[in-house]
Amino acid sequence: MKPLVIANWKCNPVTTTEAKRLFNSVKEGLKNIKDVEVVICPPFIYLLALKANSHKAIKFGGQNCFFEKGPFTGEISPQMLKNLGCQYVILGHSERRALGESDEMINKKIKAVLKEGLKPILCIGEKDQEFKTKEIKNQLRGALSIIKISDLENLIIAYEPVWAIGTKNPCDFKDAKKANSSIREILAEFFGESMAKNILVLYGGSLNSEIAAGYIKESKMDGLLVGGASLDAEEFVKLVKKVARALIPSP
Ligand code: PGA
Repeated sequence: MKPLVIANWKCNPVTTTEAKRLFNSVKEGLKNIKDVEVVICPPFIYLLALKANSHKAIKFGGQNCFFEKGPFTGEISPQMLKNLGCQYVILGHSERRALGESDEMINKKIKAVLKEGLKPILCIGEKDQEFKTKEIKNQLRGALSIIKISDLENLIIAYEPVWAIGTKNPCDFKDAKKANSSIREILAEFFGESMAKNILVLYGGSLNSEIAAGYIKESKMDGLLVGGASLDAEEFVKLVKKVARALIPSP
């Protein structure tokens, strides 16, 4: 399984021209990358323009979506994202939870996204700088209640400790490894060992090109969710290349 590196552009950049410039530089830098699955999640409004000028090495994702279509002003449905060429959707990001998104809403969104055959990237993470199994378990239980076992193969979990997001204070490799094992144990308890081991677990929070590969090699993460560093094309390309290089076994 290729490691997954997801770029979360959040509410950036401000113009389509800048979005295209950023995307084109990333595309150019990564055009020969085969060993890493790269996904760009730009603001919705840029998806069409970027998709039109895309490259097969890069996939697209949304940063959120709603769980229904119809009279819901300002919302966007999973079907719309699919029609725009997205294969992934970030859900339950702590910045959205801070705006009032509940586990119940996230659960509805995950179901709607899975129904469209898209891959939800469920963000979970504790607020205090200490892994709290109970908090993580409650987030997973709430977001994943009544999900069909057969749908789980499309589920991706992003462990993003809230204190590590945008702070230049990333979780260290050892703690990320412990969190990874705890998340896998919880998933195994909920869905059984064999199903749980197929669910990808990613790390996110203050990533940069210097430390990224360590989460794959040492923390045994299946991939990364990158915020700030994905807005600098050179830095993001470097990060992805380091992850690709980390996969080459040492002689
Ligand atoms: P950061 O953001 O890399 O800027 O910390 C990560 C995220 O919010 O997904």
